Amino acid sequence: MILDRFDLSGRSAIVTGAGSGLGRAMAIALAQAGADIVGVGRRREVLEESRGMVEALGRRFLVHPTDVTDSAQVNAMVAHAIAEMGRIDILINNAGGGGSGAGKSLPELTDEDWHSGIDSNLTSAFYCTRAIVPHMLERGGGRIINVASSVGFRAMSGAWMYPIAKAGIVSLTRAIGFNYARDGIRCSCIAPGRFPFRATAETKRAIGERQVAGRIGEPDEIAAAAVFLSSPAADYLSGETLIIDGGVVAAGIIPFSMRPVVEG
Ligand SMILES: NC(=O)c1ccc[n+]([C@@H]2O[C@H](COP(=O)([O-])OP(=O)(O)OC[C@H]3O[C@@H](n4cnc5c(N)ncnc54)[C@H](OP(=O)(O)O)[C@@H]3O)[C@@H](O)[C@H]2O)c1
Repeated sequence: MILDRFDLSGRSAIVTGAGSGLGRAMAIALAQAGADIVGVGRRREVLEESRGMVEALGRRFLVHPTDVTDSAQVNAMVAHAIAEMGRIDILINNAGGGGSGAGKSLPELTDEDWHSGIDSNLTSAFYCTRAIVPHMLERGGGRIINVASSVGFRAMSGAWMYPIAKAGIVSLTRAIGFNYARDGIRCSCIAPGRFPFRATAETKRAIGERQVAGRIGEPDEIAAAAVFLSSPAADYLSGETLIIDGGVVAAGIIPFSMRPVVEG
C-alpha cells in the first residue's frame, strides 16, 4: 500500500535546529512516522522541550547541544549520535538564521558579518554532511535533507549573506545528489516561503495578505514534506528542491504587495 512507503519505523534522524520552529515540527513529524531523533542546536533547554514532545509519541530523542558552525562539535555530535542510536538514516540540515549585519550596505559588512550568515546557513550543512557521509556509505545509503529558503531563488532587499547562503544550499543539494547517486545517498532540499510562526495572529494575517496564496505557511506543511523526502516513497528523488511558498517564486517577482490577478 502506498502509505506504507511513508513509514519511518526503525530509522534514526539527526535534525539540526530541532529545538524550535520548523526543525521542531519536522522532528515531531518524523517521530510520528516512526523515527527516533537526535536533536541538535545550541540551546539545551529548547531541545529538552522537543524531547518531551517526541518521547510523548513513544520515540527516542537524544539531546545533543552543538554549535553547527564548529566542525569539531559537529564531528563529536555525529559520532555520539551513531554510537547511541546504532544507525543514522536521515540528516536534516535545518539550522540557520539571518546572522549579523542586518540592514548594512555591502561595503559596511565586516568579515564577521559575512561568516556569521554564510556559516550558520551553509557551512553548517557542509560540516554535518561531511561528518555523516562515511557512515551512510558504509550502510549503503541514507537521506540528507537541506533547508534553504525561497529567497535562495531571488534577491532580498537589504539582505546579503542569507539569500546567498540559501542559494548555496540549493547547489550543495545538487552536488550531493549527483555525486552519491550510485551510493544510495539521496539528497533533497526544502525551500520555505514565509512561516512567521512566532508572530501575533494580527501580524500573521497581515503578512499572509501580502503572499500570493493570501496566507502564510504553517510548520506542518514543511514537516509533511520532510517525512516524504525521508521516506522510501522518495527513493528516486535526489538533487531537487521543493519550494513551499504558496506560489511566490512561481510568480517570478518580488512578492510584497503582490496578489495574483484573477481574470474574467
Ligand atoms: N520560518 C520561515 O519563514 C523560514 C523561511 C525560509 C527558510 N527558513 C529556514 O528554516 C530553518 C529553520 O528556521 P525557523 O524558521 O524554524 O527559525 P528558528 O526557530 O530560529 O530556527 C533556527 C534553529 O536553528 C538553530 N541554530 C541556529 N544557528 C545554529 C548554530 N550555529 N548551531 C546550532 N543550531 C543553530 C537554532 O537553535 P539554537 O538557537 O538553540 O542554536 C534554532 O533552533 C532555517 O534554516 C531558516 O533559514 C525559515
